[in-house]
Order: sequence, then C-alpha cells, then structure tokens
Amino acid sequence: RMPRTLLGIESSCDDTAAAVVRGRSVLSSVVAGQGGLHAAYGGVVPEIAARAHAETLDDVVRRALAEAGCGLADLDGVAVTAGPGLIGGVLAGVMTAKAIAAGTGLPLVGVNHLAGHALTPRLTDDLGYPYLMLLVSGGHCQFLVVHGPDAFDRLGGTIDDAPGEAFDKVARLLGLPQPGGPSVEAAARGGDPARFAFPRPLLDRPGCDLSFSGLKTAVLRERDRLVAAQRGLWRQDRADLCAGFQIAVRDVLAEKARRAIAIYLGSRPSAPALAVAGGVAANGPLRAALFSVADAAGLAFCAPPLALCTDNAAMIAYAGGELMALGRRDALDLAARPRWPL
Ligand code: KG4
Ligand code: ZN
Repeated sequence: RMPRTLLGIESSCDDTAAAVVRGRSVLSSVVAGQGGLHAAYGGVVPEIAARAHAETLDDVVRRALAEAGCGLADLDGVAVTAGPGLIGGVLAGVMTAKAIAAGTGLPLVGVNHLAGHALTPRLTDDLGYPYLMLLVSGGHCQFLVVHGPDAFDRLGGTIDDAPGEAFDKVARLLGLPQPGGPSVEAAARGGDPARFAFPRPLLDRPGCDLSFSGLKTAVLRERDRLVAAQRGLWRQDRADLCAGFQIAVRDVLAEKARRAIAIYLGSRPSAPALAVAGGVAANGPLRAALFSVADAAGLAFCAPPLALCTDNAAMIAYAGGELMALGRRDALDLAARPRWPL
C-alpha cells in the first residue's frame, strides 16, 4: 500500500525545496532558488549554497505544509534527498528531516536524487515498470531502464560534461544570459543550423555513452575565428552558432536514444515507454526529436511538466512513498552521501 501523505525535502544543489505529496497528487511544491547568490561566481559555490539551505529550509518546509493545508500530524512519513550532491546542502536537508522525524516519530526515508528524477513520470502519468528513462540536466546525463523505485539498469551516460552544462557554457561564450539552455534555444530560432559543421561526439563508437565537452570547444573555436576575422560577433553569427550547437546536441541524444531503445526492447517490456526528466528536457527541438524516435520504435513518450522535470521536492516525496511501500525505512543515522550512483 502506498503511504498516503509524505513531506519531501530537497537541497542537493542550489534549490531549497519542500513538498507535500498524497498518493499521486502534489498538494504543494515550494522551490526557493539561490540563483542570485551565485551569479557573480559563474557557478554554484558549495559553501554559499549550504549556508543558504540551512537558513531557508525551515521556512520552505513551513510554507509547503501551509500550502498543502497540512500539519505534521497529517503526515505518514518524511522523505529527504540523501545524495548525490553538494554535501553541505545534502546534510542541511538530511538534518532537517531527521529533526522532524525525531520530534514526531514519523518514519524517515532517504531518497537518491537521481531516483527522484527517474520516478517523476510515474507521479504524473500512468507508467508501468520497466520504462526507459533519459535523465538530462545541468549535472546529469544518463539512460536508465527503471525496473522499480530501487532497481535501475544504467545503459550509458556522459563521459564528461552534462548537456545543460554545455548549454550554459555556450551561452557564457556568446555573452547570452544564464541559465544558458533557454537563451541558446531562443537565439537559435533565427539561426542556420547548417552554417557550422559541429562534431557529433561518440557517434562512431558503439553503445549509449555520450560526450559534450568537445562540442563546447568547437563552438569556442568558431567564435574565436569569427572574432579575429571581423573583430566581433554579429547577431546572425550568434544565432547560427546556437542553432548549430543545439542541433548537434539533439542529433547525438536522438541517436543514442535509438540505441538505448534497441537494448531496452530486447527485454520485451509489456508497455514500452521512453520518459525524460531534467531541465534540458525543456528543449523544444530535443523533445520533438525524442518523441519521433520513440514513436518510430512503438514506444509511448512521456515528458512531465517542466516544474516537475527540474529540481523539486515533490519527486522526492513521491519516490519516498514508493520506497516506503516496499518497506524501506531509514534510522536516524541515515548518512548524507556526496556520491551515490544508482
Ligand atoms: O534539472 P535542472 O533544473 O538542474 C540540474 O541540473 O539538476 O537543469 C538545469 C539545466 C541548466 O543547465 C539549463 O541551462 C538547462 O537545464 N535547460 C535547458 C533548457 N532549459 C533549461 N537546456 C536546453 N534547453 C532548454 N530550453
Ligand atoms: Zn536534479
């Protein structure tokens, strides 16, 4: 039986989040970003993130309960991201969850952040196990076959940067605002994707592994060449660079998805489906390409709404509920783990 109502807590990167989920309905989902705090540093500063989480968590939890119209007495459990992530932030969340569990006697369950992303499509859609999952965010890129809340087969993943990281770096190279994904996608709309012949990394190698750092370097090289030749970048150059980069990312992910699908179908799933999660899953051309790849292979395609694709605590509460239904509980010595492969 699915425990009815769970509080979820997430603080593994730069969003402080709490949510209340009852069964499959999200009663509240509060996400407090820290974007502004890190803007001057060109990336998330772990110490600054940890302090901000510690300061914000109590208030975010209080807001999530209030918006759900719940008191602690209405809960059946507390789920918290116990890794992987920036350890100071993970610790802040885990300590908050332990304090609530100790004070109320509620069961506590530690959730893998990646499992939270990977189970999100089951929160939003009627999706049975096993399904194929592409997790694409600023920090992660992997193909998983999801067999259960605690059972994953990793088919492949990036050997260097995550695609979101590459979008962010390309935006920085071209003087476009952060986060890079949406601004590169917008700039690419007026661009010619065929003007620059960017590489399609690792397509020549078998398997589902991916690489994005060479692509970013290729954009840097073209930018420098243009700047040297004409003493600056024109608006059209920027658009063409973005379009060429975006199409290369799309092509690589689509082809690797085709290969992952072939492996997944080998296990004869009864209702085959491809699901996506992570911030990069917001990318229009990528979504369209993944949809056609899935459709051509006879798979259903599932892309949860963006607010549940990016970091949030509803996915943690939901995943915690599935784990608790399997009997999983953690004691008050639950460890915070900076690294925790699925
Ligand atoms: O899942 P997420 O919110 O955070 C983690 O990385 O865990 O993903 C954020 C990433 C950023 O790198 C952002 O640039 C990228 O997702 N992103 C996009 C788009 N929207 C967000 N990338 C490509 N196209 C987009 N439309
Ligand atoms: Zn994430």
